[in-house]
Amino acid sequence: MKRKPYVAGNWKMWGTRRQARDYFPRLLERLAPVAERTVDVGICAPFTALDVCVEAARGSGVRVLAQNMHQAAEGAHTGEISAAMLTELGVDGVVLGHSERRRDHCENDRALREKLPVALAAGLEPILCVGETEEEREQGETERRLRQQVWEALEDVPDDRLGDIVIAYEPVWAIGTGRTATPDQAQEAIAFIRALVADRSREAAAKIRILYGGSVKPDNAADILAQPDVDGALVGGASLDPVGFATIVAAAEER
Ligand code: PGA
Repeated sequence: MKRKPYVAGNWKMWGTRRQARDYFPRLLERLAPVAERTVDVGICAPFTALDVCVEAARGSGVRVLAQNMHQAAEGAHTGEISAAMLTELGVDGVVLGHSERRRDHCENDRALREKLPVALAAGLEPILCVGETEEEREQGETERRLRQQVWEALEDVPDDRLGDIVIAYEPVWAIGTGRTATPDQAQEAIAFIRALVADRSREAAAKIRILYGGSVKPDNAADILAQPDVDGALVGGASLDPVGFATIVAAAEER
């Protein structure tokens, strides 16, 4: 099955409403018209800029995603945001389990297991982030860690919805460090994740898009995206510049 590449920019804690308003026209003028585009493009923005992004992206085919979501429908969860709050704004998807949230906000596989079915049921496309730390890689624990993260997070997703999820393999040691995984390392880990999905459903494994994330830049994107199992990229720092981000999208177009 041919999978459409997907390049998503993760702004993290960048992007006031004014910055979001300035950003979109500069990105859109550099993307192929939506009818000719062979790559899906997404922007993961802070909650406060989501409505501005949805408005600015209207008709462009660029998806707008949140960076987190609570699993409960509503209730006593101060500071949290529900799926319905996102869909009301016209948001298309949500990043779940980013390593910065696992590290700083106690996000764990158990909560993710609840969040994924909630996002899917609301019509939000989830990008589930997984990846090992440097210590885990050095100790030969990469596969064990990925297996635990993928199996646990996907446990309550029915087989026929698995293919609707996007997974981002983001080795923690490569995020924001300038140390990109080699194309071979990215391919190896992503092929392993695809095999984990295949243990549940071969059909879903052929359909599911698995991205690489971690210090993707305009000058290294093409080599990573050329790997057969790498279906795109989740781009942090380099997505803040719309010119550079559009260059990474172009690299995926040529893949
Ligand atoms: P980075 O971040 O590209 O700045 O390394 C990637 C991510 O955290 O999604």
